[in-house]
Amino acid sequence: MKLLVEPATRPLSGTITVPGDKSIGHRALLFSLLSATPIRVLGLGDGADNGRSAKAITALGGSIVRDGAALVIHGTGLDGMHAPAAAIDCGNSGTTIRLLCGLVAGQRFQTTLFGDDSLSRRPMRRVIEPLAAMGATIAGRRAGGAGALDVTPPLVIGPATGPLHAIDYALPMASAQVKTAILLAGLHADGATAVTEPGPSRDHSERMLVYLGAPLTTAGRRTVIDTRGWDRRLAGDGFEVPGDPSSSAFLVAAALLAGAGELRLPNICVNPTRTGFLDAIAAMGGRVAQHDPRDAGPEPVAELVVRGPVAALHATEIAGELAVRSIDELPILAVVAARARGTTTIRNAEELRVKESDRIATTCAMLRAFGVACEARPDGFVVEGNPDRPLTAARVHADGDHRIAMAAAIAALVADGPTEIDDADNVATSYPGFAAALRQLGATIAAA
Ligand code: S3P
Repeated sequence: MKLLVEPATRPLSGTITVPGDKSIGHRALLFSLLSATPIRVLGLGDGADNGRSAKAITALGGSIVRDGAALVIHGTGLDGMHAPAAAIDCGNSGTTIRLLCGLVAGQRFQTTLFGDDSLSRRPMRRVIEPLAAMGATIAGRRAGGAGALDVTPPLVIGPATGPLHAIDYALPMASAQVKTAILLAGLHADGATAVTEPGPSRDHSERMLVYLGAPLTTAGRRTVIDTRGWDRRLAGDGFEVPGDPSSSAFLVAAALLAGAGELRLPNICVNPTRTGFLDAIAAMGGRVAQHDPRDAGPEPVAELVVRGPVAALHATEIAGELAVRSIDELPILAVVAARARGTTTIRNAEELRVKESDRIATTCAMLRAFGVACEARPDGFVVEGNPDRPLTAARVHADGDHRIAMAAAIAALVADGPTEIDDADNVATSYPGFAAALRQLGATIAAA
């Protein structure tokens, strides 16, 4: 699928319901499988990635019943999962495959997990190593090429021959997926399983597992699941999935770059582990207001509002904790940086190399297609910003990466002619309504 985008000719305005947060959606589905009580999930996003987790829980013995706007998940409890009848297709979803590794690591049956070409290239040693240290058996494919030391899908997990052992593990990288896989396996270990991470990765799992009654505590960067004396019961009523801050970032960026009458995005998750994008925008001089703050279950939410003419932005540096808290938003932040005066530097973001594409390479290639100077570094990139000159209308290849395709579509709004974005089908993994939302705001964008 191609996206065809015209430059914006007027400020963007409107109220958009952004789909449910993808990370929270995966967890609402996968954790509900472990619940002894049915769980009502409201606001689940319609992206294909969450759909993969939904299919996976039915393959493992859960069932999903629609009830009005909600989905009701009937889980198996901690010990009632069934062996899947066939290998589980995780599609493009890194979160599905890595969380499932932890979910099934302690089971007495075998599970095979596979995915699409992109997922089949993504590194899994980071999750295999700690789970193997807990006594799980996981076999994968030895990766070729640059990632030769790593292991890639398909993965064959189990059967476990006995209970898993608790470990005390220091994560080499800030990864919520790996942290969560270990914590899920820790539910099946006797003793205290501890994970310490080097940076503030998203903490939805901790919040949601505590809500379900898991014996989980967090102190600073260290999270512990201690099953000693626990009744092995997870239960709850429901999860409300707030709007996805990562999807909302594209619309916020559009309004800042093209100007806004008024853009309103109600009910967006503003968990501090996810607001790096908003903090970076504020550091660049952009104004995004947060109205109506409230708690949606274990997550804080607010309405994001952008008003006014094209923002006067200046360059910034994104590094350290801020890079972790904005990791999925760095492609769209790079587009914003292209319109901000000065040189923006992004450092400590080497994790971008192993996302749905090598996002250091694909972000730089995308910006260069628009005539923007972007230098790739091993752990990030440097963008030369210029608010005075429009971007050059481009033909961009999104490399099958949803966030590169959407970032390019926003760049195209401030280009000097029509832009064509190839290989954009995977926008549907996180935000199937993306083009429709931009049209609702007054942009001209078509899928072909
Ligand atoms: C996610 C964690 C992050 C993020 C991904 C979703 C999650 O990945 O980039 O889009 O839902 O746990 P890592 O765990 O690899 O950092």
